[in-house]
Amino acid sequence: MLDLNSSYSYLLWCRDFADTSVIARIDGEPAGFITGYTRPENPDTLMIWQVAVNENFRGHGLASTMLHELADRTGALRMETTITDDNAASNRLFQAFAEKRGAGFDRRPLFTPDLYPDGHDTEYLYEIAPL
Ligand SMILES: CC(C)(COP(=O)(O)OP(=O)(O)OC[C@H]1O[C@@H](n2cnc3c(N)ncnc32)[C@H](O)[C@@H]1OP(=O)(O)O)[C@@H](O)C(=O)NCCC(=O)NCCS
Repeated sequence: MLDLNSSYSYLLWCRDFADTSVIARIDGEPAGFITGYTRPENPDTLMIWQVAVNENFRGHGLASTMLHELADRTGALRMETTITDDNAASNRLFQAFAEKRGAGFDRRPLFTPDLYPDGHDTEYLYEIAPL
């Protein structure tokens, strides 16, 4: 499940992190986006924050295309993301991405429920390298 952030935070994101983010348009209308950033302590690592595709356009490779575009554009050596266990589509998206790149794939708990004030499920850190 995607957490909805404030519109202000998305505008701020577009201002400062456009180089590591992407938006897909179909017939001029937004169809999907990815927000990402390079980790300050490790600029070779592209951290993928949110991936979303309009439900009308899911299952046609749009998320996968956007992920490869960001990996190619940034030249990052490693990719990270976090995913909850119940998100089958996102889990498969990143596994398929790693397979297509012939990259290694590692997964471990990062943010466990005790760290959240709102009972959020465990977010597992996925590490994909080398890209
Ligand atoms: C996750 C999401 C972005 C995938 O977008 P998409 O454009 O449909 O994904 P793609 O078509 O590029 O598919 C990528 C891979 O995932 C698989 N996949 C896609 N949807 C799936 C589903 N519901 N269940 C299982 N696998 C799925 C595809 O088969 C493909 O794998 P393959 O190459 O082995 O065939 C989309 O489902 C979505 O927006 N979900 C809601 C938001 C969300 O949960 N985002 C992730 C948390 S930030």
